[in-house]
Amino acid sequence: MTLQQFQQSIREGIPAELPAPKPYDPEVNHAPKRKDILTKEEKKLAIRNALRYFEPRHHAVLAREFAEELEKYGRIYMYRFRPDYEMYAHNIYDYPHKCLQAAAIMLMINNNLDKAVAQHPHELITYGGNGAVFQNWAQYRLAMKYLSEMTDEQTLVMYSGHPLGLFPSHKDAPRVVVTNGMVIPNYSKQDDWERFNALGVSQYGQMTAGSYMYIGPQGIVHGTTITVLNAGRKISKHGEGLAGKLFVTAGLGGMSGAQPKAGNIAGCVSITAEINPKATHTRYSQGWVDEVIDDLDVLMKRVRQAKAEKQVVSIAYQGNVVDLWERLAEEDIVVELGSDQTSLHNPWAGGYYPVGLSFEESKQMMAEQPELFKEKVQESLRRHVAAINKCVERFGTYFFDYGNAFLLESSRAGADILKPNGDFKYPSYVQDIMGPMCFDYGFGPFRWVCTSGDPKDLAKTDELAAKVLEELAAQSPKEIQQQMHDNIRWIKAAAENHLVVGSQARILYADAEGRIKIAEAFNKAIEWGEISAPVVLGRDHHDVSGTDSPYRETSNIYDGSKFTADMAVQNVIGDSFRGATWVSLHNGGGVGWGEVINGGFGMLLDGSADADRRLKNMLFWDVNNGISRRSWARNEGAVFAIKRAMEANPNLKVTLPNYADDQLVESLF
Ligand SMILES: NC(=O)c1ccc[n+]([C@@H]2O[C@H](COP(=O)([O-])OP(=O)(O)OC[C@H]3O[C@@H](n4cnc5c(N)ncnc54)[C@H](O)[C@@H]3O)[C@@H](O)[C@H]2O)c1
Repeated sequence: MTLQQFQQSIREGIPAELPAPKPYDPEVNHAPKRKDILTKEEKKLAIRNALRYFEPRHHAVLAREFAEELEKYGRIYMYRFRPDYEMYAHNIYDYPHKCLQAAAIMLMINNNLDKAVAQHPHELITYGGNGAVFQNWAQYRLAMKYLSEMTDEQTLVMYSGHPLGLFPSHKDAPRVVVTNGMVIPNYSKQDDWERFNALGVSQYGQMTAGSYMYIGPQGIVHGTTITVLNAGRKISKHGEGLAGKLFVTAGLGGMSGAQPKAGNIAGCVSITAEINPKATHTRYSQGWVDEVIDDLDVLMKRVRQAKAEKQVVSIAYQGNVVDLWERLAEEDIVVELGSDQTSLHNPWAGGYYPVGLSFEESKQMMAEQPELFKEKVQESLRRHVAAINKCVERFGTYFFDYGNAFLLESSRAGADILKPNGDFKYPSYVQDIMGPMCFDYGFGPFRWVCTSGDPKDLAKTDELAAKVLEELAAQSPKEIQQQMHDNIRWIKAAAENHLVVGSQARILYADAEGRIKIAEAFNKAIEWGEISAPVVLGRDHHDVSGTDSPYRETSNIYDGSKFTADMAVQNVIGDSFRGATWVSLHNGGGVGWGEVINGGFGMLLDGSADADRRLKNMLFWDVNNGISRRSWARNEGAVFAIKRAMEANPNLKVTLPNYADDQLVESLF
């Protein structure tokens, strides 16, 4: 397809004449059939809703087709309207546009739907099984058309994938405001999502799927490496590293697939159990896991040897993680670190495969006997936890929840996971690791994308970022030295680790000062032509300020406010009037619908003075909002960090907490 045809297709939006139906491509990884949740009347409503995008003369054909999709897949994806061009992050100047910011957003959307990047590209799902960019292809086409037409005096409003329209605004306003899955709180249960999504009125945007900020597995490799490294520091008795220590976990899927690679970078022996042979094969063929073993006897022998010889090796166990833990609990192999990354945020629809059933049997049971399947999952979780408990008792294993709702779902299943006071027996990785070591100081998953698509630009940005961090590290207080040095090491080795999948992107944990200084350096380099095209800045929502999630990002908030969501909402509102190019606010993401509110932004740096003004204003708020909230919750690191920020900027005046005398309070009741 020529560039002109590509541009023409974007400008056209929803075609006036129906394109030919698209055959179902068995080579592509498709979303599982969703639960058949709608009543007959609701199904009619779903069809009426879908037909709103099309002229009535096409309704007779489309109504039948959509009804068939609804029956067959549980959703109406409008497959026929998937564009013919290849979906990937084209160079920013290839997108038809009147405003460069809009072109950058189109690039980011297409990257999220690239088949090398997206989990179920034809169902518009980027990751996590249900993280949608749009609900259907009509929405995609219409949004791209609007973006190609918009000026920098307009804002596109996105309601859960549906482009509500272009509205007059102004140059400093966000070009796009996205909301995903925002429902009335009492209607925020798993089945509500299934129903609203099937009706075509809401979607689960995960974090970076529906906010157009996914950068492939790299983002997660970095975060996972930091987590495993710091978990290793926690269990280090005499300052020794992870050599010869064993990390046991599960999941080789979208995000979880980063675990073996992170284990290798951190220098341990790892076993990652995976039930789906396709997922195992993908990670093995990509070189993300070194060896695959499906026999527990062979595995035990191999692990003994790897530990004894202090090999750095990642092993996939092809099988159910419960079988693995139960076997380990009987062996004399010490398990130093343990976690889990099955998709327990989505336990009943393919996120967790119960022990005792084959992969295929599970798939059949979840569609045909959902109640029985639920029982099997819960029974499996009880066994899963019992085996982990045994390892913890025998070996002193340090087990942590990896943000997948493992503790929560296990407790709901009645597993032995609670202390007598009702708290979970094990910490979440944010409570023990990411929160106190990173988020409280403002370190979080800052990222950028070079819109030229040229690896040379990415190399230049790596070089600039490393230089900025080295300068900052030279004057950093001791409290943040470790984080600074981990990140300098990461950015210097990033190119060698060949982590780019899709757009030319990089991730780096940085604090407010680091993010601002790095962004300033990029903006100047763009102005001077050292970087050939604009750069998009963003972050994962899994950050200091972006997300209110009581069992994950905000699990280390102990003043009772972890069930509130003011921070995430304020973050998005504040970013939007401080210069973000786009903002997004989501219900759900990672841990599940109704369990989290998260917000994100994207910002285009084009080398202009406007961009320089915006980046300083917005990034400062974007990080310090969360630090302030964490400081008010009396988190020590955050109190330290916010005082430092106030010294640096006299316009910042944050309310600081006073500390109550424990004896006084204890004597009261
Ligand atoms: N990596 C991170 O930094 C991070 C951070 C926060 C949360 N998470 C959470 O981790 C979870 C995993 O994310 P993902 O994108 O990899 O999901 P995914 O669905 O792509 O992968 C999960 C994998 O687990 C496998 N699995 C399920 N049950 C199993 C079992 N009993 N035994 C062995 N394998 C089993 C599945 O086959 C699947 O391949 C999610 O809940 C996500 O929210 C990850």
